[in-house]
Amino acid sequence: MATSSDNVPTRGRTLRIAMNGVTGRMGYRQHLLRSILPLRETGLRLEDGTRVDIEPILVGRNAEKIADLAAEHGIASWTTDTASVIADPSVDVYFDAQVTSRRMEALSGAIKAGKHVYTEKPTAETLTEAIELARMAENAGVVAGVVHDKLYLPGLVKLRRLVDEGFFGRILSMRGEFGYWVFEGDGQPAQRPSWNYRAEDGGGITVDMFCHWNYVMEALLGTVQTVTARTATHIPTRWDEQGNAYPATADDAAYGIFEIEGGVIAQINSSWAVRVHRDELVEFQIDGTHGSAVAGLRGCVAQQRAHTPKPVWNPDLPVTERFRDQWLEVPANADLDNGFKLQWEEYLRDVVAGRSHRFGLLSAARGVQLAELGLRSSAEGRRLDVPEIVL
Ligand SMILES: NC(=O)c1ccc[n+]([C@@H]2O[C@H](COP(=O)([O-])OP(=O)(O)OC[C@H]3O[C@@H](n4cnc5c(N)ncnc54)[C@H](O)[C@@H]3O)[C@@H](O)[C@H]2O)c1
Repeated sequence: MATSSDNVPTRGRTLRIAMNGVTGRMGYRQHLLRSILPLRETGLRLEDGTRVDIEPILVGRNAEKIADLAAEHGIASWTTDTASVIADPSVDVYFDAQVTSRRMEALSGAIKAGKHVYTEKPTAETLTEAIELARMAENAGVVAGVVHDKLYLPGLVKLRRLVDEGFFGRILSMRGEFGYWVFEGDGQPAQRPSWNYRAEDGGGITVDMFCHWNYVMEALLGTVQTVTARTATHIPTRWDEQGNAYPATADDAAYGIFEIEGGVIAQINSSWAVRVHRDELVEFQIDGTHGSAVAGLRGCVAQQRAHTPKPVWNPDLPVTERFRDQWLEVPANADLDNGFKLQWEEYLRDVVAGRSHRFGLLSAARGVQLAELGLRSSAEGRRLDVPEIVL
């Protein structure tokens, strides 16, 4: 018999999460605002209905900024002392969204202290460090997770469903187009931080995006076996947050070709120096023998073999077909929440259950590996094998 208490979740434990890098773009918008603060309101609901309370602790370098942020959002705990928060036994999870160059030291300290760790990508600046982190987490037995946000986006969830349903027949290829114009910063301020354009500060689009592309390709197509890349710094001078000109030492575009197990070929362009003539800032097209689909962050359209038109190449005649109209929208069939929040929930449930998260530091290391090999492929002008990483 239903009772009035059926809808009231049992109150479980409280998870205390130290969040470092929350004054940054990603740390603030996606992780604090869109994920942890809403979860603080609703609690984390476990599979058995139990509610787990979430308590963030803000960590940062600038006391004034962190204190203001904490006050603005009614957060009781904040600190500029990372070591003390990591040493605090009441803290369950250490989260890192600092600039990439700070990650290795911060994560290794947290893992050594036995904290569960959740982190932005890339996990380290070099493959050696990324593998070391993965080993440390495995040996310490902590639950480690790395942001694989693109896989939780509605567009990619739909694309993945088409793969699972066998919609494509034999998958032949994937094309990805990512990018937009990032202003140089002289006239209009740049919409990305200046460290992104300095190699010495961990910047560069290859380092930034190839770790995403690695897990996207793994999830949709399979293991990446080779990489051929050409990177470029199209805009050599940019202006920083203070309005000072600086030389861009990192790549702002990367043109990559990837061979996947089973013979699928993926080709992905990444650029901060293109103007958008697409429906979304990133789009992936998968072509297979029985169908094709194009997915962005949210939308996904598909075309079956039976509905495939038969265009004939004739440059002397104007185009009469409206090709975009020949695709059908793929429905979500579910309410898909913010991707960062969905992954946070999954990761925190794994922490409570004491089981490993499906996107851990080994997966992250493969992302760092692809970026490192992409840069090397471009520097050496050749195709490179992607060896399997064994911990
Ligand atoms: N998942 C994604 O889609 C995605 C997108 C963009 C960035 N990122 C990753 O998130 C991380 C943060 O990127 P962001 O765009 O939020 O950067 P940001 O510059 O906006 O924020 C950086 C944060 O690190 C802190 N920080 C600590 N030490 C620093 C130092 N020495 N110099 C400068 N800042 C320092 C800053 O105070 C700030 O809180 C990066 O590792 C980046 O690769 C992920």
